[in-house]
Amino acid sequence: MLEICDLNAGYDDMPVLKSLSLSIVEGEVLSIVGNNGAGKSTLLKAISGLVRSTGSISFRGTRINGLKPHAIVQKGIVHVPEGRKIFPEMTVDENLTMGAFLNPKEYRRHLDMVFSLFPRLSERRKQLGGTMSGGEQQMLAIARGLMGSPKLLMLDEPSLGLSPLFTESVFSSIGEISRSGVTVLLVEQNVCQSLEASDRGYVMETGSIVLSGTGRELIENPQVKRAFLGM
Ligand SMILES: Nc1ncnc2c1ncn2[C@@H]1O[C@H](COP(=O)(O)OP(=O)(O)OP(=O)(O)O)[C@@H](O)[C@H]1O
Ligand SMILES: [Mg+2]
Repeated sequence: MLEICDLNAGYDDMPVLKSLSLSIVEGEVLSIVGNNGAGKSTLLKAISGLVRSTGSISFRGTRINGLKPHAIVQKGIVHVPEGRKIFPEMTVDENLTMGAFLNPKEYRRHLDMVFSLFPRLSERRKQLGGTMSGGEQQMLAIARGLMGSPKLLMLDEPSLGLSPLFTESVFSSIGEISRSGVTVLLVEQNVCQSLEASDRGYVMETGSIVLSGTGRELIENPQVKRAFLGM
């Protein structure tokens, strides 16, 4: 579904991604794990057109690097950024409406879908986004992303700062999103849980991929155990 080949990207004169290649298969949940500063968020920004890149990113056979971010969203790639970035002065309903701006015809169907996925949001439709708890804001950020009708949903650290209970609930919603037919690219520092929830994974180190495999293979890999699981 997504093929990345020899990708280089960074900020001003600081290179971050170095000749990175990976692929995402339609229908899978794929995780990318790596230490702080490895370049995971930069990779998602390069895919969604927020940072410039060289090399190639193609989505369903069409090259997308160089396109503007809105054109990439229109193709079905939705990015839920690190730190949630909901609109704090808008209500839950208004945040969801913003997520649907490219896709107003499907508004009702998507609204029903996100409320069944996150019933708590349906109880708080008039509450301002900024007054929701951290976990609720994360649900809202994911729900807003889903309102854009993604084919590929990219989630950057969705469990960051959440209690174990909320983390569980975010991972279980990722399972449901995947079963509804959306391909999921997950970037996480919660290495064990995210690999468990994934079909496949990649380990990233200083801007390149150093390991890949099924979620299970990576959890059992001695290098992964040493680097991320403290074993
Ligand atoms: N806007 C920016 N301008 C300059 N440098 C940046 C910018 N954003 C990120 N960087 C740098 O790029 C490198 C990769 O950062 P990135 O945010 O992609 O890492 P990450 O793997 O997502 O890390 P984390 O796990 O901490 O979120 C870091 O050295 C970071 O300081
Ligand atoms: Mg990051």
